[in-house]
Amino acid sequence: MTSILFVCLGNICRSPSAEAVLRYKARMMGFEAHIDSAGTGGWHEGEPPDPRAQAAGEVRGYNFKGQSARAVRNDDFVIFDHILAMDSHNYDDLIARCPAQYRFKIRKFLALIPDNALEDVPDPYYGGANGFEHVLDLIEAASEALLHEIA
Ligand code: 4NP
Repeated sequence: MTSILFVCLGNICRSPSAEAVLRYKARMMGFEAHIDSAGTGGWHEGEPPDPRAQAAGEVRGYNFKGQSARAVRNDDFVIFDHILAMDSHNYDDLIARCPAQYRFKIRKFLALIPDNALEDVPDPYYGGANGFEHVLDLIEAASEALLHEIA
């Protein structure tokens, strides 16, 4: 079974949203995958996704039940087939930490969208509700592209 790890900074906004979106889309396609998310930082360890992320996602039909923030662990680099960074900082942090033989697994999530100029899913934490809608739009597009690639 293919395994996918989404990574952002806090694991309470962007990567839990990507986890929920991909889980939904994969299930709709009948594609079985192990999908998880983590943060490069551990400040929010054990917390559920941000209520704003959940509210925006639930309107679109996504389910956040059971999600709890955690930090990236060293064995994630071994276990997961695809490690997808939400922005360039997350990507650089992951590359710096990952043993050389597993670095090929790490990509920027938005690089999967064909002809896409935007590199980063913007951090919505300090912004308004619009930020969470934009995050979901980007995540939906990249999730479709990912499933097209791997399914
Ligand atoms: P995320 O957003 O990386 O998409 O989960 C953030 C959540 C928390 C913080 C920053 C970004 N923070 O500084 O606590």
